[in-house]
Order: sequence, then structure tokens, then C-alpha cells
Amino acid sequence: MNEVYIRNFCIIAHIDHGKSTLADRFLEITGTVDTRHMQEQYLDQLELERERGITIKMAPVRMRYHPHRRMTQNDTRNDAESKLLYETITYEIRGAAFEVRKRLGLGHKEIVYHNALAEEFKKRNLRFESEKNIGIFYDGKKIGSYQPDFIIEEKILIELKALPEIGRPQTEQLWSYLKGSDYKLALLINFGTKTLDIQRVVYDTAREIPRDSASLPRPSAQVEEYILNLIDTPGHSDFSYEVSRALAAVEGGILLVDATQGIQAQTLANLHLARSAGLTIIGAVNKIDILEARGDTEGLARIRHEVAELLNISDDEIMMVSAKTGEGVSDLLRVIIERIPSPVEIETDQRASAQNQRVSAAPARALIFDSFYDDHKGVIASVRVFEGTVNGTDIITLAASGASSKIKEVGFFAPPLTATQKLGTGEIGYIATGIKDIALVKIGDTIVSSKSKCQNPKTFALHGYQEPQPVVFVSFYPEDNDEYDLLKRSFDKLRLNDSALHIEPDQNEVLGRGFKVGFLGHLHFEITAERLRREFHVTTVSTFPSVLYKVKTRGGWIEIVKPEEIPEEYEAIWEPMVKIVILTSPEFLNNIYPLQNKFRFSNIMTETFQNQTEIKAIMPLAELVSDFDDQLKSATAGYASFSYELADYMKADIVKIDIAIAGEIIPGLSRFFPKSTLQYEARELVERLKKTLPQQQFAQPIQAKDHGKVIAREDIPALRKELGNFGKNGGDRTRKMKLWQKQKKGKERLKARAHVRIPPHLFKELLKK
Ligand code: GTP
Repeated sequence: MNEVYIRNFCIIAHIDHGKSTLADRFLEITGTVDTRHMQEQYLDQLELERERGITIKMAPVRMRYHPHRRMTQNDTRNDAESKLLYETITYEIRGAAFEVRKRLGLGHKEIVYHNALAEEFKKRNLRFESEKNIGIFYDGKKIGSYQPDFIIEEKILIELKALPEIGRPQTEQLWSYLKGSDYKLALLINFGTKTLDIQRVVYDTAREIPRDSASLPRPSAQVEEYILNLIDTPGHSDFSYEVSRALAAVEGGILLVDATQGIQAQTLANLHLARSAGLTIIGAVNKIDILEARGDTEGLARIRHEVAELLNISDDEIMMVSAKTGEGVSDLLRVIIERIPSPVEIETDQRASAQNQRVSAAPARALIFDSFYDDHKGVIASVRVFEGTVNGTDIITLAASGASSKIKEVGFFAPPLTATQKLGTGEIGYIATGIKDIALVKIGDTIVSSKSKCQNPKTFALHGYQEPQPVVFVSFYPEDNDEYDLLKRSFDKLRLNDSALHIEPDQNEVLGRGFKVGFLGHLHFEITAERLRREFHVTTVSTFPSVLYKVKTRGGWIEIVKPEEIPEEYEAIWEPMVKIVILTSPEFLNNIYPLQNKFRFSNIMTETFQNQTEIKAIMPLAELVSDFDDQLKSATAGYASFSYELADYMKADIVKIDIAIAGEIIPGLSRFFPKSTLQYEARELVERLKKTLPQQQFAQPIQAKDHGKVIAREDIPALRKELGNFGKNGGDRTRKMKLWQKQKKGKERLKARAHVRIPPHLFKELLKK
């Protein structure tokens, strides 16, 4: 395959702005997925992704695209554009040319083929004119003429050749003739090559992108087929490392902005990532159908202008599309071909010198931007080949992990896995590594591929690799202790497709055996918890999300995740911080101010531009992973958006509070609170505990303790005997009884360990901010 025809790109956008829907339209227009098999959000394969409508895993796809055919045969929509220009006549002409070629073979002069073709046209009742002069016009004035070999049915020009090869100069010349004339389609038929070569050249002003001369196809866009590799990326900050790896695998990106929502926090964050990756960016406004239906042309112009300003380009360079109706999507595809550069090979010194010395080629290198597990083929890495060719028979070595294996298969995503012999420079596809341990095949690592094992793979590493670091930690315990093995098996399976999950065994006096799991962020945690429940049917109790604290003690630094792990004596606690950017409409500012205190914002900078306000601040990661997201949404009716990136550690003015119930400190309930609000938070917590905890046969004092000293206290009185008292509140009582039955097993376990009963499901409730 010729790399000139490849375009690698991704779609970057704020959550819900329509990436997956746009990807669906691309699949449909290019005929990659048959319309009959089209299902909404085809690339979002996980059930959960479909349901929540968010992209979690990236799904790359290879599409074949013929810019001048616009729609493929597979597209069954009743759309005038779906018809190939002059389809029937073209079909007849092709038939005539193939017949001539079949009967005359190679090696005749052009005039011989010309005359034979004229005979074939007659037989097929095709009206034709031979060697007729047609005028070339400039500003409406005739400035010259051109004589094509044939004009068929007054519609199609035919230029005949009998040359060993034809290339761009001939197609460009023909394109220029079309441009200066009233004709739209020409066929360049070359009888001089081994297999008959027919090229369609189209110039159709009525079909071109109307507003934007910069986006009109240049003659170079007359090549018949392109390979478009699209990577759909997750838009959430939790996955920014994955996004950055995906961006490293492509040359261009479509920045997609929802016309009804405008530029949002993650539009900016992802644009920033794309710019640092040096991508060519195409701005596109999506969901224009909604504003069109409202007749809001001003709104359309405004959002177009905003995106243009953001990208520092003119308004008419911004594409206007509706991923839902398909409006403007074909134009966008053509602009992708026009503006996004084709891939170039990165050459290492080793490779250059190997080629100079004509010794065996240096290894090929490919960047892993995703991976998943297959029972038979081991870890399958989604890759972008940056240098050389990866053959299906090669031995691979991984630059970071050093693991080595014989390749099981290489191929591309059609979207189903489709095996090929090799993947060349610039291509995006997969390598079935045969490696069984997903931890050895990490996103961002480089696959070094050659005939034998590479001895020094590190020297071939493509830059930018980072060990994925978990930043949010949550312990999971089975609600029913008998389900421990099931939980373990479920995590093992989840980890197979998610190398970012860090899992280790954990133990809690109240909740028993479980696992401490490290996540990339809060959403990553929520998704995993949901998958556990849905795909593996395990009911778990999870602790409140925590972060990695660094504690300075006399003996040196220690790292802790759970507050109860902190030693009695220490000098200082340091906590991880994030830089947060919130975008909101100014009318919500008053509702956001109280959150700034509550979630410990510092270094706050507020700037209002156009109709949006941007708040930049530093805040503790621990605060972000508490329910900040929910509280921001409810303070702004869901209109504010935010993105974040991890920043350095900072000394934290926080204190650990233990909770003792009936005299016993309950592990898992200890928490860090800022010193400044300690008293208030402790009071609030014990009050909430009093409301949430069930009464027992004995009185339960609830105490909040700072270094053993009680700073807040509430009491739950003992339960009075209520035998026979089911009359009035019978319904309620029955419901409770049912609940208690359900939790019986868990409770028995709790009873054996402590006098205090805290139903596991209340844990999370208790730990809310
Ligand atoms: P994430 O993967 O979560 O980042 O979302 P996404 O950007 O992939 O958005 P998605 O394609 O899931 O679209 C979000 C919602 O917008 C869906 O309900 C789509 O049907 C809808 N949508 C997408 N494009 C259009 C459009 O052009 N017009 C209209 N009216 N709705 C659209």
C-alpha cells in the first residue's frame, strides 16, 4: 500500500458533543459498516459505554474512502448524492473499454484503441462525439479550446492514453480542463498498462463545499482511494494519558464542538493536548440541525465564530455538520483528506545506517495506544507503526517491559479484526502479541519488531511513555463474604482489558477480605464498580475514594492511602493537588463561590470572555474525588464543565479524625479534615452517623476523636422491645424486615467481629462529604 494515501486522525471533543455519532456517520458514508448493521455508536462497544453514552475504551477503525464517489454502494439512503455521478453511462463506457482491451490486448497505438472504442460505443448505443473542440472559459470569456478523444452523451469527456503509466500530471491537466468548461466528469483511460487503468476525474462546483474555497479539493485530491484511520478517544480528564497516546498515533484531529453547548472545559483541555502533539486541527461545529430547526442562524454564526477564534482561523474554515442527519459530513471527510498530512516515517539513526550499509534492516517500531485480551492470541495491542514494516512472522520485544514474543497475527480494524501479512509505516492496526500478561503490554510502550529478539529495545523507544499511575484508591469488599472468590476472578478478568487498574489484596476488620484498587480517576472508579455489578454480578461495598498521601515522619517519608494508616506521631502530611479549569456561564458564579471554600480551592483566577467565565484554581485531588462533580453540576444546573490535570504535592493542613462507636474505633470511617473546619466537620459527621445508623439493643455513643481526644459526640439510645407492635407501621416494618433478611449474612459477620453493626451499604452514605 502506498502511504501517501493514508490519513490518520481522531476526534477530540468535550463529553457528549457527538464524537461517537460522527464516527458512526463516517463508517456509514465510507461503507465500512453496512447500513443494515449500523447500530448507534458503533465504536462504543461496551454495553456500559452505550448506555451511559460515554466513550471508555478507544476503538480504532480503518475506512476506505473514495472522495469522488462520495457515497458507497452500501449506502442505501435515498439521497441524490448517494448516486455516483453519471453512474449508468460510466458503467457502459467501462464495459466498452474492457471489451476493447480484452480483444486487442497491449501494445497498440492510441489511435487503434480510439477507433475500436468508437465501434464499441456504437454497439452499445452510446451517443458520442469524437475530437470535438470544447471551449475553455475565464470570467465567462472563451480563452482557448481543448479537444478530448470523446464526449459521451454530451456529459462525459474521455481522454485516451497508451502509456506505460499515467500519474498526477495527466489527471491534473484533465481536472483543469473540466474546471474551465461546463463538464463535470472525465475518464482517463490508459491502455498502455498491464491492467487497464481507468481514472475518474470530477470537477463539480455544485457539489463542492460551498462556503470555503480553502477547503475545495485541489487537483491532488483526485486520487481514487484513501485509507482513513480513525481513533475515537475518551473525552474525560481521567483518561488524558490515553488521549495523549492516541494523539501521538495520528497526524490530525477534528475538534468537534456542540452547537448548543459551545466550547467547554474539555474542548480546551483536549485542544491543548492536540496542539502539544503537533496535530493539524480541523474545527467543526456539530448538532447544527438543532439550531437550524429553531431557525437560529445567528446562533450558528456565533458558535462558528467562537470556534474559529479559538483555532485562530477564519470562520469559513470551520465545518458545520450534523452527525445525526449526516449534513456536512461528506464535506468534512474531504477536508480531512485535504488538510491532514499523510504519515511520514520517523527514521532512527540505526535504521538509516543499516540502510546505508545495506545490511539487514533495523527493526520496525510501533506505538501501543490501546490493548485488550484474547484467550487465544494473548494481549492484542492497537498500534501505530512509525518506522519500518511489522511482519506477521516477526519476533517482538517491548521497549519498557522488555517482554518478548513471537507475533501471532497482525491486522487492522475493519472494525472487526482483519488479519493481514504486515503493517507498514504510517499504518494503524493491531499486533496479537501472544503475551499472556497484560501488565507487560502497556499503553505508550513501543513494540520493536524484527526477525529476531531485540537485545537493546530501550534504545528504540518512541518518546512519551509513562507508567500509568493510579491516583484514586478504593477498597472493595464483597457484601457477602462467600463471594470473595467471585470478586477475585472478576477483578482478574477486568484487569485483562484494563492495564491501568492496580489491584492488591486488602483486609478490613469490619468488612473482611477484599481488594485495594488504584484508578486513573473518579470516573474510572465508577465505571469499574458498575462493570463489576453488571458484567460479573458481584455486590460489593466500597470505601470512600482516597488518594496517595506522603507523610513525613522522624524516620523518613512514608506513603499512605487510608487515613487510619497514618502513624500517631508525624511531622507533616503532603497531598496531591490538581489544576482545575471550570467553564461556566457567569450567571452561576454566585452558586460556585461557596464550593471554592468547601473544596479547598487556592490560587483562584477568574476571567470572563464572551459569554463564558473561566475559573482556574489549584485544589486537592482528595476534594475533587469526593462529590465535587455532583455538587458543581447541581450548583449550575449541569451547565458548568471542568477539566483537570495533576499538579505537584503540597503540604496539607489536615488532621485525621477517628470515629468510635460504642467505644470502638471503626476502621474505614477515619477521615482527613482541614484543621480550619475540623470542629464543624466532626460535629456534622457524628450527627449524620446518628441519623444513619440503626438502633441496637445497647446504647451507642458516637465519638469523633482527634489524636484520642473526643471533639464531638452524639448518642444513639438502646432499642426498646417492640414485640407485637406491627399494627400501625406494618408496611414499613415489613420492608425493614426484608432489608434485614437480605443483609443477614453480612450482619452476622459484623456481629462476630464487633458489637457495632454498620450495614455495609451504609458505609458509602456515611462517608459522603
Ligand atoms: P462521549 O463518548 O461520552 O465523549 O460522547 P460523544 O462525544 O461520543 O457523544 P455521542 O456521540 O455519544 O453523542 C451525545 C448525544 O448527542 C447523543 O444522544 C447523540 O445522539 C446526540 N448527537 C450527536 N450528534 C448530534 C447531532 O448532530 N444532532 C443532534 N440533534 N444530536 C446529536
